[in-house]
Amino acid sequence: MHEFNYAGNELYCEKVPVRKIVQEVGTPVYIYSSITLRNHYQAFDSAFAEIPHIVCFAVKANSNLSILRLFAKEGSGADIVSGGELFRALKAGIEPQKIVFAGIGKTGEEIAEALRSKILMFNVESPLELQKINEVAGKLGLKARVALRVNPDIDPKTHPYISTGLKKSKFGIDIKRALQEYQLASALPHIEIVGIHKHIGSQITEVGPFVAAMEKILDLVARLKESGIEIKYLDAGGGLGIRYGEEEPPHPRDLGAALLPMIKDLGCTLIFEPGRVIVGNAGVLVTKVLYLKSGETKNFVVVDAGMNDLIRPSLYDAHHEIVPIEKRDAPQMTADVVGPICESGDFLAKDRKLDRPEPGDYLAVMSAGAYGFTMSSNYNSRPKAAEVMVEGDTYSVIRKRESYEDLIRGEV
Ligand code: LLP
Repeated sequence: MHEFNYAGNELYCEKVPVRKIVQEVGTPVYIYSSITLRNHYQAFDSAFAEIPHIVCFAVKANSNLSILRLFAKEGSGADIVSGGELFRALKAGIEPQKIVFAGIGKTGEEIAEALRSKILMFNVESPLELQKINEVAGKLGLKARVALRVNPDIDPKTHPYISTGLKKSKFGIDIKRALQEYQLASALPHIEIVGIHKHIGSQITEVGPFVAAMEKILDLVARLKESGIEIKYLDAGGGLGIRYGEEEPPHPRDLGAALLPMIKDLGCTLIFEPGRVIVGNAGVLVTKVLYLKSGETKNFVVVDAGMNDLIRPSLYDAHHEIVPIEKRDAPQMTADVVGPICESGDFLAKDRKLDRPEPGDYLAVMSAGAYGFTMSSNYNSRPKAAEVMVEGDTYSVIRKRESYEDLIRGEV
């Protein structure tokens, strides 16, 4: 469920007409519903209420400070993958003891920053990274809490670019070598083993792959125990999918129902790192129609948001619904909805049936709250879009539209 609905012909976010926002803030603009953000967070959190658990929101999905602050107030932790995300999470008031740090290329400086901040644990992706963490912790006179990210070789049945748990993937440590790596880790003087981590991919729309991966992880946890290595935190990663079009992904409660019986007697704290499922359908990107153009074989609707604002269609062929912010009687047309970027790959939708818009109309690109703004860029020297958060019948700008001066900041 989300809070973007029509009242009559007008699209509202909660109790605010989207038109009011675009008239005052301009386009392109990302609009988020705070009610939806909270509801989605709480739905996930309560799905695992039965056992000790921490929801570590995956900051990469949406890292706006106001959004992170909203989650911090809900008690959320953070899954981070860089020093920059650590900086944001701490600024937003997320407790360091609820921060987990993944990523295959952590630098020495990032490791030191995280150690000084006393985060909960590093999700370690390779033997050499483990040695580096040991070395940095030693220099700082600290002990680093770690989990090894184990690659369970499970097909998440999603887009290849967002599958991460297959043998051929660059992520994690092969499950067959994991026991041995844990034993090596346990001998390192500045390392404290506290957990195990897996993340098999994103936009997963079935419970099956989560269960299959968990079975393999639990088998490993048992073998670790036999060899004297106790696991306190079982980090199951993120990946639960959302509805963009026709998908029917499981509700977090279904995921809970499938996984809880498997882990409830383990005595571990469960960690989850949801990103998309919490923010995806809590945000839209609103864009203005600039021109209509008919080619020999195709129609084009040219809008003022491009692949620099939302790269998912170009990068993954991702489907996002596109709806008018004001419905009116117009004939249907089939068109590519394209942005202003000088690339043929710059499109928001291909061969899409939509009500024929007029120049000056506004369209909402739905389900854009996850990996939308965070993956945006300044390509073609386009200032990044504004971001707005709606709260009931009011809204606030939570990131100003960039200016031309912002574009050249730091350049000489
Ligand atoms: N944990 C780890 C270690 C991850 O790598 C990711 C996402 C997550 C958690 C959160 O996954 P989620 O719950 O959001 O599925 N840009 C792509 C998605 C890339 C996901 C990368 N890792 C997209 O727009 O579809």
